Amino acid sequence: MSSKLSTFICQNCGTETSQYFGKCLNCNSWNSIVEEIKSKRSKNKDTKNNKKSIPFKEISSKKISRFTSGFREFDRVLGGGIVPGSVVLLGGEPGIGKSTIILQSAGKISLNEKVLYITAEESLEQVKIRWERLNQNSIDLKIFAETNLSLIIEEIKSVNPSFAIIDSIQAIHNHEMESSPGSVSQVRACSSELQNLAKDNNIALLIIGHVTKDGALAGPKTLEHLVDTVINFEGDNLSSHRLLRSIKNRFGSTFEIGIFEMLEEGLREIKNPSSIFTNKENIAGVTTTITNEGTRPLAVDIQALVNKTFYSNPRRTTTGININRLHQILAVIEKHVGIKLSEFDCYIATGGGFEINDPSSDLGVAISILSSLKNIPPLASTSFIGELGLSGQVRKSNNLRTKIEEAVRLGIKNIVVPKLEEEINNNFQNLIHIKEISNIKEAVDYSLSK
Ligand SMILES: Nc1ncnc2c1ncn2[C@@H]1O[C@H](COP(=O)(O)OP(=O)(O)O)[C@@H](O)[C@H]1O
Ligand SMILES: [Mg+2]
Ligand SMILES: [Zn+2]
Repeated sequence: MSSKLSTFICQNCGTETSQYFGKCLNCNSWNSIVEEIKSKRSKNKDTKNNKKSIPFKEISSKKISRFTSGFREFDRVLGGGIVPGSVVLLGGEPGIGKSTIILQSAGKISLNEKVLYITAEESLEQVKIRWERLNQNSIDLKIFAETNLSLIIEEIKSVNPSFAIIDSIQAIHNHEMESSPGSVSQVRACSSELQNLAKDNNIALLIIGHVTKDGALAGPKTLEHLVDTVINFEGDNLSSHRLLRSIKNRFGSTFEIGIFEMLEEGLREIKNPSSIFTNKENIAGVTTTITNEGTRPLAVDIQALVNKTFYSNPRRTTTGININRLHQILAVIEKHVGIKLSEFDCYIATGGGFEINDPSSDLGVAISILSSLKNIPPLASTSFIGELGLSGQVRKSNNLRTKIEEAVRLGIKNIVVPKLEEEINNNFQNLIHIKEISNIKEAVDYSLSK
């Protein structure tokens, strides 16, 4: 039994309403609401129950054995490899390289596991042309070009792979629904059917979704709470560097990153990532900080440009740092270093535009700003670590020990850090000079006095 039901769904955030609005009541975006017609199937159909609750002590605790994606950097982002039966969403801008990395990975995985690659956007021939450029080997890799969800499900059932890939979720559709492929309700409905199939058959499923920064292709965004792991593939078209970043992971830590380079023959892992986000030049307006992304310490340059403003409101822009964070740092400098910044424009950019989420980059941002303002290079070969509190104090940083170790590995000579426990300091004697500070004023006096 089926009846037609019309709902209005915001294509930006996925909120459903029974009525049309020009502006979404949830996310406030304009003209994002689209009418979608669902065929409502009687709900009881799929609820035949053959599962029972079982005594907790009877559950075997045998360790789930992950399998490798074929890339160490990819495995790291997944939390140590692919978990059987898990569902991973791989999102990123069109053209960033999602199909490329996954095809390379599919080849490598197929040397040990059964792999099924479903291409819904490209023909078999197109995939084959890419495959030849990537120069991969495969053993148990099958490929299926289809957009119809029920045919895809049949094929997955009949092949029964360990690892299945949907490329991409926006290109497939469920014929029982009248909304168009890529719409929020199609993306959600297709994903949840595929997810159930994966869980029931212990198939690891990787769903590719195109996601744009401005939210123009937001369908996959609405899946984030459904899947086990969400990985973003980032980078800009100007540089060849690409970053995998886990933004949700039921099986590992989040914000873990993997770094690659896009070459003609596909993606190659970068073994020493700190080297690509730093320049090691000692010039006014540039400092180096060491951030923690997931479990990995990473050196990143912070560049500041501070100029007298020509506007009534000074301009503040950032690349790689949250703009609100910059406003806060500027306020702390005004109040606790006593320098008036309201007459100055301030631009901040991280090395390679790398997006820093670690608040301990504050100190590096502040010193870069003051270094540019005064036109004095900061103390040579120095890294800055510390979160700035609103009262000007430099607060503790997470994983400080691994950050200092990374600085040592990179041959950095000085490191400015929040007050340490005695024991950490002892470990680094003769390896690096550690300057402990408790507030912003001390950091400025230490690193910017000529
Ligand atoms: N012949 C080629 N040589 C080098 N790089 C290529 C070649 N063809 C495609 N690429 C790279 O691959 C990218 C497309 O990657 P793709 O995996 O199709 O992206 P997505 O699946 O995320 O849309 C292009 O933007 C380009 O950088
Ligand atoms: Mg693609
Ligand atoms: Zn909305």
